[in-house]
Amino acid sequence: MATAARKSLTIGLIPADGIGKEVIPAARTAIEALGSDIPTPKFVDLIAGFETFTRTGVALPEETVEVLKNDCDCALFGSVSSPSRKVVGYSSPIVALRKILDLYANIRPVVSVSPSPDEPSKVDMIVVRENTECLYVKQEQQTFGEHGKEARATRLITERASTRIGKMAFELALARPRRHLTVIHKSNVLSVTDGLFRESVRAVQTKDPRFEAVTVAEQLVDSAVYRLFREPQIYDVMVAPNLYGDILSDAAAALVGSLGVVPSVNAGDTFVMGEPVHGSAPDIFGQGIANPVASIRSAALMLRHLGYTEAAHRIDNAVDSVLREGQLLTPDLGGTAKTQEYHISLQKNS
Ligand code: NAI
Ligand code: MG
Repeated sequence: MATAARKSLTIGLIPADGIGKEVIPAARTAIEALGSDIPTPKFVDLIAGFETFTRTGVALPEETVEVLKNDCDCALFGSVSSPSRKVVGYSSPIVALRKILDLYANIRPVVSVSPSPDEPSKVDMIVVRENTECLYVKQEQQTFGEHGKEARATRLITERASTRIGKMAFELALARPRRHLTVIHKSNVLSVTDGLFRESVRAVQTKDPRFEAVTVAEQLVDSAVYRLFREPQIYDVMVAPNLYGDILSDAAAALVGSLGVVPSVNAGDTFVMGEPVHGSAPDIFGQGIANPVASIRSAALMLRHLGYTEAAHRIDNAVDSVLREGQLLTPDLGGTAKTQEYHISLQKNS
């Protein structure tokens, strides 16, 4: 998405549930602290989530979708508390939004902070997750068979979605120093679905001569997790179908200290939505100790995607130095800092 010469920047804010309500305000503060580096931001508060569902009977109000489509340049989403049991009428609003806005790529950089700015990060990879299909089409059914209950789920993989996520992954790999892409699949077992994903991604390289500069490897998803923990440095950009990408990025988060520091953007051709990788963390919600770094970095990623590279860089640098100093660490990183202290620090450094 190219930078438009915008006079103002309208950003939809959807904190949704749990710690989403605590960390999205910090991301807002980080954007506000940028001053004239970006067009004057205008924030629009929007609702969605399980709490919205219990209150109104709808998890993703039509108005939220319409405002995002018609009035916003981009958005930030917090997290939803989707119940593990089936609740009639409820469906995750973030999964729905990714489909409705055709945000087909979930881009999740996982980067460790090195002890000094001159030292390279030990872990520095991007998980590129297909965002619209796979098992997340949520076509499940339960029937009764000879031996009792049976449940089935449809897994959709299309050439179109696999090709466009493949293109996105090649573009990202091409823009990085190492230019290395690993295609994640399990086509030794799922030769039809994962086979199509694998073939479609690989075919992207043969159709664009620029992508010849990218080295391509493949890895079965289970051994990819194993190697991720043993030798994370072998990975640069990883591209995966929806479910594997979800699992891999949470696993990769463990390598950089906490889920609370890993950001993402949901990107399509015309819209971008920042979103921390973590969920609503009910175990710590309400204590004021949620790590806002993932959301702050998601705001930076969103701005970078819109072309505001300098502004994004400023946010990332500020976060890097805070983490490097080790003064402002929330409990997930071994400290005692509160979410609120980040607001104070961001305002002071603006
Ligand atoms: P989770 O990501 O919410 O939490 C996993 C662990 O990481 C917890 O111990 C939590 O305290 C910790 N954690 C997560 N974010 C943190 C932060 N910013 N600062 C400090 N610690 C943090 O995953 P969990 O517990 O499996 O799911 C909880 C709820 O979140 C579920 O209802 C699930 O459906 C939902 N969820 C929503 C997602 C989304 O909105 N995109 C993604 C993943 C889960
Ligand atoms: Mg996840």
